[in-house]
Amino acid sequence: MTAQQPMRGDVAVLVPAAGLGTRLGPGAPKALRELGGVSLLAHTVRRLACARAVGCVVVAAPVGQTDAVYAALVADVPVGLDFRVIEGGQTRQDSVAAALAAVPPGYPIILVHDAARALAPPDLVERVATAVRDGHDAVIPVLPVVDTIKEVGPGEVVLGTVDRSVLRSVQTPQGFRHDVLAAVHASAADPLTDDAGLVEKAGLPVTCVPGSDLALKITRPLDLVLAEALLHVR
Ligand code: CTP
Ligand code: MG
Repeated sequence: MTAQQPMRGDVAVLVPAAGLGTRLGPGAPKALRELGGVSLLAHTVRRLACARAVGCVVVAAPVGQTDAVYAALVADVPVGLDFRVIEGGQTRQDSVAAALAAVPPGYPIILVHDAARALAPPDLVERVATAVRDGHDAVIPVLPVVDTIKEVGPGEVVLGTVDRSVLRSVQTPQGFRHDVLAAVHASAADPLTDDAGLVEKAGLPVTCVPGSDLALKITRPLDLVLAEALLHVR
């Protein structure tokens, strides 16, 4: 379904939201579960809508929920934002590909942003979009890794300690030149957990920008508790 309005910016954001949330435990699909009385997906869309660069948002909804998701979110969409909801797929990559196919002409920059990162702030969205506009083909927000990381072998025996200074924890939104993302999705083979991985596999550079603690991915029950506490942090 579509709400067609005048464009705001040149960035379209794809929001994969079709996952089940298995690690969160039994209940509705994760994107439709509530945080502070509002669905994770509504939190996500509201924050995206606050980023001036964003002119279009395409949500990949859980299977069979397209109309319900559109109806639940349309009141959160400001005038001028082109808002679309399509049905997601079997894997995250399928959902992203379906959303990408639904982007109308006129958006040279595409961001891909997990609905599960419901508190990612608008300034993070702007930072990633700006880095693509400045000439980078693919941009990812990252944080330093805080834990010591061990490589382990059979029997949970430690093989060694990885040099943490060269590791980064990767978030979304990830940003891409539209033509680059379309090309790597068209030739994608095995499903990956992020879109920048497809760009890496194609041998193209991926550039890091600073991420945000607020962009944590709500994955396990404790993440919901943490997100509730972070809800009002700006
Ligand atoms: N996603 C999607 N389509 C799928 C699977 C995942 O759009 N077939 C989305 C999720 O809705 C989420 C994002 O991809 O916003 C990141 O996935 P993840 O955090 O793994 O969410 P789920 O797959 O829902 O969770 P789980 O793996 O615990 O089932
Ligand atoms: Mg998953």
